[in-house]
Amino acid sequence: MRFDRHSPIGVFDSGVGGLTVLKALIERLPLESTVYLGDTARVPYGTKSGEVVTKYSLANADVLLEYGVKLLVVACNTASAVALPALREALPIPVVGVIAPGAALAAHTTKTGKIAVIGTPGTIASGAYQEALASIRTGLEVHTQACPLFVPLAEEGWTEGQVPSLVAEQYLTRGLLGPGFDTLVLGCTHYPLLSDVIQRVVGPGVTLVDSARATADRVAEVLNERDLLKKERLATERHYLVTDTPNRFIEVGARFLGHSISGARQIDLKLKG
Ligand code: DGL
Repeated sequence: MRFDRHSPIGVFDSGVGGLTVLKALIERLPLESTVYLGDTARVPYGTKSGEVVTKYSLANADVLLEYGVKLLVVACNTASAVALPALREALPIPVVGVIAPGAALAAHTTKTGKIAVIGTPGTIASGAYQEALASIRTGLEVHTQACPLFVPLAEEGWTEGQVPSLVAEQYLTRGLLGPGFDTLVLGCTHYPLLSDVIQRVVGPGVTLVDSARATADRVAEVLNERDLLKKERLATERHYLVTDTPNRFIEVGARFLGHSISGARQIDLKLKG
């Protein structure tokens, strides 16, 4: 497998959500070329078993390797929570997930030592955030809550008003989050779109942590360590791949990315096992 500093960065997610991570990556490393793969035929990952999500993740990585990527970003929290060891073992390139950077940022942000984490059922059940936080700092009190309805709300563009507010209140005040936390990790690609509503419900004393920017910083660090940063302005390319027809991805994705997507190519995954 040949790659050098001109090779693109590969990014995958279950669908449009990872575009929030791609957005941060493009802001942080604008010269880098990127290939983004949204597994729109199989979304959501957040309600599926770890075994199945790992199988999909390995197949996504295989496609991106064919594009000659020099580093893989697992933009999906659920895939980062369950498939990172398998991906790291299988791939000849560095793999960066979103959980460790988000957990590190949260551990540095909290003053009370009480952190709340919200994510998909798969991410929360995996215990990956709890584990990552415990490995960074001992004595942290971590409360978690799965918020599955936030995903369709963000995709429908229902990010303001009564419906998302009621859902957020149900999850975050009447839900399982304990009192006294001062830091809330948005442990799912879709949740940054609902950050205004979430902030209003948890109050101004709670800092929301979005792992996208921390992940982009980690990618810059890893590329720099390996002398793989692209330094020229020339020939920066953006490619988008999807596993279902591209129309909805292009339409909904623009909201996640913050600008329009000119086109996406439909591909098939080669699933093993
Ligand atoms: N991308 C997923 C995540 O960050 C959310 C959507 C899904 O369930 O596939 O966990």
